[in-house]
Amino acid sequence: MDSDQNSFIETFRTFLEDVIQSSHRDSRLTPMGELVEQHLGADATAVPAVTETILGHRLVDADLAMAELRTRSESRLVGISHGQMRMGEDLPGLLTNSHVSFAPGPVDYVSIATGPDTERQVVASGLHLFEFRGQPVAVLQREARPQFGQEHARLEIMATDPAITAALIREVRQLMVHLSVLRGQVLSLTGSEFGNGAAGAAFLARPTVAAGDVVLADGVLDQVVRHVVGIGAQRERLVAAGQHLKRGVLLYGPPGTGKTLTVRHLLARTPGTTAVLLTGPGIRFITEAAELARAMQPAIVVLEDVDLVAGDREMHFGPQPLLFSVLDALDGLDGDADVTFLLTTNRVELLERALAERPGRVDLAVEIDLPDADTRRRLFALYSNGLPFSSGAVVAAADRATGVTGSFAKELVRRAVLTAAEASRDVTDDDLADALEQLLSAREALTRSLLGGPGGDEPGIDFGQGDDDDGITFEPR
Ligand SMILES: Nc1ncnc2c1ncn2[C@@H]1O[C@H](COP(=O)(O)OP(=O)(O)OP(=O)(O)O)[C@@H](O)[C@H]1O
Ligand SMILES: [Mg+2]
Repeated sequence: MDSDQNSFIETFRTFLEDVIQSSHRDSRLTPMGELVEQHLGADATAVPAVTETILGHRLVDADLAMAELRTRSESRLVGISHGQMRMGEDLPGLLTNSHVSFAPGPVDYVSIATGPDTERQVVASGLHLFEFRGQPVAVLQREARPQFGQEHARLEIMATDPAITAALIREVRQLMVHLSVLRGQVLSLTGSEFGNGAAGAAFLARPTVAAGDVVLADGVLDQVVRHVVGIGAQRERLVAAGQHLKRGVLLYGPPGTGKTLTVRHLLARTPGTTAVLLTGPGIRFITEAAELARAMQPAIVVLEDVDLVAGDREMHFGPQPLLFSVLDALDGLDGDADVTFLLTTNRVELLERALAERPGRVDLAVEIDLPDADTRRRLFALYSNGLPFSSGAVVAAADRATGVTGSFAKELVRRAVLTAAEASRDVTDDDLADALEQLLSAREALTRSLLGGPGGDEPGIDFGQGDDDDGITFEPR
């Protein structure tokens, strides 16, 4: 052996010693590890940690479930020291670590909405130590930290007996449904859990649109209400007679005719029903919405403007167009689930093929068409209600404005009132007639088409006319 070889062997030997030493250091218990070891009464490095992923909009429910479990035995909740360093570590990495000596510290909380006007301080990072079925368990609770590579919130569970871990996970899932803050709420899934650790669900105030506020052709509203509300009201009898409760309703028709308004009326009619709203690209959360609806029934899943995903070839969800996933989610629910899927569109022709290829998903399709002469008169009367117009002027305006929509009627009256307000006087029949001429004139062609007036055959543009002045909108609070 020459000296080069000798030196190589010596270097290699030192390297191996380092590897062995550092592996010993890696298994060194931190103060957190000692605490857990003491609690479990077992070698913490030998106990596996099982991870339960929690979607952002369910973190509050998981927090409530953990708080409930902790009340059932003597328990502790401890935080973890060493600030940002701990965020990237999983539970085993907190218990044995060669770099950071993680120790018990203050618990981190994050404030998350539990309703349109309420919040809860939820554990963002903390270790629950308690007994489950007489056995000591340790559960690490974490919020999502996308910046540290943790896309989802999670629970990491350690118990010496794997059967206890499995039973605990089952119990947590049940409690999350049982105690859920989402039940009976109107929610919109936003997916912001992928942003800054927010809840991923926005709570909306339940709309209060009365039947009298929705002016449709005779019998149309009743038909929809009967299918959505009526089936739910007869739940027990229908189930007893072997009938299914699940329903799929499609509202289609030109923009501004009252489809969204009808949806809001249905939500107003179903207090206590969990409603999940998905609009346009938000429809990619269909799987989460269907899962939520199944767990929280009676429930309504509203898919607004489904054409936005049907027409877009980019909007794929796995190997399938998103619209097929929507229809499959509807199909995937048990027939006896008290769940309504409510779809709206103003481009029904884009959906036809998909609906034909997946038959049986939509059991009621209702056209919300441009109002006929009689409906238009009722619409104009509704929006001029309480204003000093003569009934003759309102009828004349309605008759002149053939082919316009409800949103047109509403904007027309606002313009008349605005003109009078600017002149510091009460609104008159003339203001109404002038405003109508303005809106019908060629100069206003684009506005007219946006409002769904005659010649407005280029639909698909929504400038948020659904935002009502009654303060009830589909905007997050
Ligand atoms: N049938 C109607 N009865 C009473 N008001 C109506 C009616 N149609 C429209 N409006 C008024 O116009 C607004 C916009 O209507 P809505 O949002 O329901 O239209 P839409 O059919 O959903 O249109 P889009 O297809 O563009 O989404 C409503 O909030 C309401 O103020
Ligand atoms: Mg709409």
